[in-house]
Amino acid sequence: MCGIVGYIGDKQAQPVLLGSLGRLEYRGYDSCGIAVAGGSIKVYKDAVRVATLVQRAPQLGGTAGIGHTRWATCGEPSQLNAHPHCDCTGNIAVVHNGVINNFQSLRQQLISEGHTFVSDTDTEVIPHLIEKYYNGSLEKAVEAALNVVEGSYAVIVLAASEPKLVIARKDSPLVIGISDRESFVASDVPAILDYTNRVIYLEDGDIGVITKNNIRITSDGTEVDREEHKIFWNVEEARKGGYDHFMLKEIHEQPKVIRDTLVEYTQVAEPVVDLERMRDEGIESVLILACGTSYHAALVGKYIIEDLVGVPVRVEIASEFSYYGRTLARTLAIVITQSGETADALKAIRRLKGVRCRVVAITNVVGSSASRVADQTIYTRAGPEISVAATKSFTAQLMVLYWLAMGYSKADARRLAGMLLGLRQLPSKVQLMLDNGDTILQCARYLSRYENVFFIGRGINFPLALEGALKLKEISYIHAEGYAAGELKHGSFALLGENTPVIAIVAQDSTYEAMLTNIKEVKARKSPVIALADEGDETIRELADFVITVPRVDAIFSPVVNVVALQLLAYYTAKERGCPIDFPRNLAKSVTVE
Ligand code: F6R
Repeated sequence: MCGIVGYIGDKQAQPVLLGSLGRLEYRGYDSCGIAVAGGSIKVYKDAVRVATLVQRAPQLGGTAGIGHTRWATCGEPSQLNAHPHCDCTGNIAVVHNGVINNFQSLRQQLISEGHTFVSDTDTEVIPHLIEKYYNGSLEKAVEAALNVVEGSYAVIVLAASEPKLVIARKDSPLVIGISDRESFVASDVPAILDYTNRVIYLEDGDIGVITKNNIRITSDGTEVDREEHKIFWNVEEARKGGYDHFMLKEIHEQPKVIRDTLVEYTQVAEPVVDLERMRDEGIESVLILACGTSYHAALVGKYIIEDLVGVPVRVEIASEFSYYGRTLARTLAIVITQSGETADALKAIRRLKGVRCRVVAITNVVGSSASRVADQTIYTRAGPEISVAATKSFTAQLMVLYWLAMGYSKADARRLAGMLLGLRQLPSKVQLMLDNGDTILQCARYLSRYENVFFIGRGINFPLALEGALKLKEISYIHAEGYAAGELKHGSFALLGENTPVIAIVAQDSTYEAMLTNIKEVKARKSPVIALADEGDETIRELADFVITVPRVDAIFSPVVNVVALQLLAYYTAKERGCPIDFPRNLAKSVTVE
């Protein structure tokens, strides 16, 4: 969580920092601030969004600076708790993403040594420690300070006395942008895409010294070479491109995401992940771990892999995974994480590796921490996802799971050929869904008046009920719960009634009849029903109050078209309620704390 940026070059730092912070707001947006070095350190910060800071900030002249946009962990959102934080002299400024676990004891120690603190944050100990250890070299002082700190951090340090940025990372992402006579640092690539696509990812334990012409990175006191990468995302992908919100733009990008993934994976001669090896190694099961929306993709993956490959699949919420047992030697572990930086997912990967389990990461971010700790990485081709609510990354994850399962399927050739055709038609089916949003808009207007909603589905669309509920609650603030349709009657029926609409996801597969029965049960309790159903399904029209028609696809692909409808439903409901769709309260894009 929290976005940090740094700039050093010939330009005025302030506009660069504020522009980059604007692109990083999805990491946190309860307060923000900048510090610029120009003779002295000048700081401007407040508990406001970046756009307001841009309007209010005075000119802080200087060509080196740092910035921060915050997702509060330690101390409420306020002007004093906003970053950057300074030492007693005001000559050292720090922005930090992460959590310092031992900050209370460090703070007491520093106070006893005469340091004065002005915020409630854990971060504030860092500039004071640097001040304490400063003896003519900023990087040495940063190194000494970080030696006594326990926890996670990505930091950028600015000092009035030295024309450089000192940066360091441990368990929080940090990327350096390289350009001619200027350098950038940020938590995430979109922050610097306007200026460069040449980047270097810092490794855990690295300390870097950045000037406008030079980058020097050390690890354990020894200078190291870190590979330069080229980013293939373009600036336009990280802009709204005429849409009201990033979320809507990203929903509309899904046909392209599906196409890009198909081009990427179905045309490669060699499989990226050798599941054949899985058979040779006697692997008997698959374990998939993930959080939030990625967890819902994993649940869909269970149906796909069990159906097509025939191996048992276990899916667990990454934060609940605590397998310290004897061995997972006969299990292939897959960790799905869009950002590749989710603390719970990374911890799960480390635990898996601790018991010598081979881990494949499915992530959207090249160079992310997940890609570095996993044994193998499959990249989704979603492009940058800026809106806090995950949409296109979910679809891209499903595409990778289809591709993986189909590659190793035991299904007969005819079924596979049919599926391949079905996969190729998916972009146009999704486009059809996007082009026929009128009923969804009407349903959203209706839904926006309610405060409690249930989503139900069966089989491969049960995870879609969970995802539909998550999407609705996170952006519209309507309380929503996803249920396996057959499970609702085991308790939650007590809440049904005319004020509790139920969204039913009805697929043309073996679950169809049972879904109709469940809908009748719900209707008998007077709950209004909005059904998502295939085109041509006339029966459902007699049962449901509203029907959102989805294009007909092979039932195994129904989650792909259904999710688009559910995303649009959540989007338009939130819009109707006037919610800040791209930046829902209390949330942030990558959850780098446990
Ligand atoms: C919901 C959402 C979150 C993420 C979750 C995992 O819209 O975006 O639930 O899916 O925080 O994030 P990643 O996939 O980055 O590990």
